[in-house]
Amino acid sequence: MIEIYINNIKLNVNKNLTVLQACNNFKIEIPKFCFQENLQIAGNCRMCLVEIENSPKPIASCAMPLMPNMKIFTDTPLVQKARESVLEFLLINHPLDCPICDQASECDLQDQTMIFGSDRSRFFFNKRGVEDKYCGPFIKTIMTRCIHCTRCVRFANEICGVDDLGTTGRGNKTEINFYYPKIFNSEFSGNLVDLCPVGALTSKPYTFKARSWELKKKEGIDILDSIGSNIKIDIFNNEIVRILPKTNFNINKEWISNKTRYFFDSLKYQRLKYPLLKDENGNFNKISWLETLEIINEKFLTTDSSNIRSIIGNLTDLESIFLLKKNLNKLGIINIEYEDLINNQNFKINSDLTSNFLFNNTLKSIDESDLCLIIGSDFRNEGAILNIHLINRLKKGNFKIAYVGNKTEFIYPVTHLGLTLKTLINIISGKHAFCKDLKKAKKPLIFIGENILNQKNGFFFLSKLKNLSIFKNNVNFFSTQTSLINFLEITFSKKKNSLKDSKLYYLFNTNLQNKLNRSKNSFSIYQGHHFTQDAQNSNLILPGLTFLEKNGIYINLEGIIQKNEKILNLNTEQRKDSIIYRNIYKFFLKKNQSKLNSFFKIQEVLPYLLKKKLKIINNFNFNIKHFKININFLDSLIKNKYYTNILEQYSKILINSNKIIQNQSKYL
Ligand code: SF4
Ligand code: SF4
Ligand code: FES
Repeated sequence: MIEIYINNIKLNVNKNLTVLQACNNFKIEIPKFCFQENLQIAGNCRMCLVEIENSPKPIASCAMPLMPNMKIFTDTPLVQKARESVLEFLLINHPLDCPICDQASECDLQDQTMIFGSDRSRFFFNKRGVEDKYCGPFIKTIMTRCIHCTRCVRFANEICGVDDLGTTGRGNKTEINFYYPKIFNSEFSGNLVDLCPVGALTSKPYTFKARSWELKKKEGIDILDSIGSNIKIDIFNNEIVRILPKTNFNINKEWISNKTRYFFDSLKYQRLKYPLLKDENGNFNKISWLETLEIINEKFLTTDSSNIRSIIGNLTDLESIFLLKKNLNKLGIINIEYEDLINNQNFKINSDLTSNFLFNNTLKSIDESDLCLIIGSDFRNEGAILNIHLINRLKKGNFKIAYVGNKTEFIYPVTHLGLTLKTLINIISGKHAFCKDLKKAKKPLIFIGENILNQKNGFFFLSKLKNLSIFKNNVNFFSTQTSLINFLEITFSKKKNSLKDSKLYYLFNTNLQNKLNRSKNSFSIYQGHHFTQDAQNSNLILPGLTFLEKNGIYINLEGIIQKNEKILNLNTEQRKDSIIYRNIYKFFLKKNQSKLNSFFKIQEVLPYLLKKKLKIINNFNFNIKHFKININFLDSLIKNKYYTNILEQYSKILINSNKIIQNQSKYL
C-alpha cells in the first residue's frame, strides 16, 4: 500500500493499480473509452486525462502507474479543457446518427459529450466516409461511428484468438479492418457489441427492434450448456429482443457465448401450444387438459409398469426431474433414463458420489493452477466460457495447457499429447514425457470430457483416474448439459429391465431423432416445448414451457445451485412441467380413490443440496496390467456449436448464422 493524494485528499491504495483504477476505487469518475478491465491497456483515446503535480502535460490515467505521494487532480480547468478538446476531436468525423443509432441512450460517446463536451461545433467541412466491414452474421458495422478505441481489436486478439483484426491507415485515414478478407468466426463475437463504446458495432438481430428505454429488464441463468452463465434479458412487447451478459466473476465473468446471446428467437418457432392427440390417420387434434389426464390415467392403469419407459431429455430443471422420478415411481414406473444413455450405448456413470460428475475444482481455481490437461473435450463447442477462464490464466504466465483427444481447434496454444486413451495410460504409468510436467506442477487441473464415458470401460477408467495420486485429486468431469447434472443429482441409475418391447413411452423434452426403436403397437406421450421429431412420432403431446417461461432450479457444472425466475408470461395452454406431473399424479390418486397426501416437494431436497459437500475418496493404486486399452479416438460429443439442443435447433438466427459461417469458411 502507498499514500497518494487525489484532489488533495490523502488516500492509501494498492501500489499495483493505475491512476484510473485508484480513482475508480474511490468512486471518482474519470471518463474513458479505450480502457477495459481484463484487456491490455492501449491508452489511445486520451479521454481519461488527469493532471499530476509536476507534470507539464495532462496524463492518460489508464496507463499511468501509481507512485508514492503522487498528487492527482481530476477536475481542474486544465483537465476539463483537455476532455472537451478530446471530445471535439472525436466528434469531428462522427456522424449525426443518434436518432437512428441502436446504441443511442447506451452510448458512452453520447453520455460523455453531454457531461464533458462543448455545446457547439467549430467544424464546417465534409466528414470523412468509411466503408462498413463484414464482421460475421451477428455484428452490424457502421464504421463512420468508430472512435478507434481498439477495444474490439484487443478483444479479438486476446480472447477470441482472431489476430488479423487491427487498425489500418494513419491519422485521418485510420480504420478498423481485417488485414485480409476474413469472417469473424468466433463463439464470442457477440461480445464486441457490448464492448464497443459507440454504435460502430451493433447487434444484427437487434437492429431497429426497440429503444433501450422501452425495454423491460430481467435477469436469469442460461442452461444451454453446463456453465450456467448469468444473463440479462431485455423484453419488448412480451418478446425477448436481446440477451446480454450479467457479470459474475466466478462463472462467466463479463462475457457470454453467441449461442447464449442469440438462441432466444427459437421461443417463437415450432412451439407446442395445446395438448394434442394423434388420430388413426396420423393427424394431430387439439384436446383439453382433462382429456389428456384421462388418457394418461387409462394408459398407466392398463399397462404393466415394467412395460412403461420414461426418458428425460436436455433443458430440464431439477424440480421437474425430481417430481417425474418420485411421482412416476409411486405410480409403479421405474424405467426412467436420460437421453444420453440411449444416444450412446456405452454411457455409464455412478451418480452415488457427486464428485463423479461435477467440475470439482471450480472455475475460479483455474486462476491458481499452473498446469492443465484437457481430455477428449472441445470447449469451443461444449462450454465456451471455460476458454475465457483458461485465457485469463494464460495471460498471467507460467501456465501450460496439454490435450489428449481427436484434433480440434483451440484459441490458445496447446500441446497435443495424443489421440486415444492409450496416451492417457502412458501418462498414468509414468511413461509419457508429460509426466515430468505433471510431477513439477503444484496445482495441475485435469478436465475430462463427457465422451470418455461413451468409451468401452470409460466409466471404470474415469473412476480409477480420479483417485490417482499423480493427478492430486484435481480431476474435473466436464458435462455438456446442465440437465444431465440435475438428472445425476437426483441419483438415477440405469435399470436392468429389458426395455426393448416397452408398450408405453413417456418422453420428457427428448430429442432422440429416430434413435428410439418404438414398436408400432406402443403408445408414446411427449411432454416438451417444441414440435421435435420425437413429438411428431408420439401419440399424445403435452405442451410445456421453456426455461425462461417458468421458475426453475438448475445445478451447474461446479454444483452451484442457481434459480431462474419466470421471465415471459404466456397466456396459452402450455403448462409448467412440474405442474403437469402434479396434475397427472393428483388425477391418478383421485380416480383411484387414494389419499392425496403424498406429494414429494422440491423443498425436501433443497436443504440437502445446500448443505452438501463433495466427497473425495483416498488415493489407491491402479493396476494397469488388468486394464483393456480402448483405441477409439477421444472426440468431442458436439460437432456444431450452434446445434447442441432443441432451442438452438429452432433458432432462425443461429441456423442462418451457421449456414453463413460454413459457406464463408469454404472460401476464406
Ligand atoms: Fe449517437 Fe453514440 Fe450512435 Fe454516435 S454512436 S450516433 S453518439 S448514439
Ligand atoms: Fe472501438 Fe468500436 Fe471502433 Fe472497435 S469499432 S475501435 S470497439 S469504437
Ligand atoms: Fe485512457 Fe483511453 S481510457 S487513453
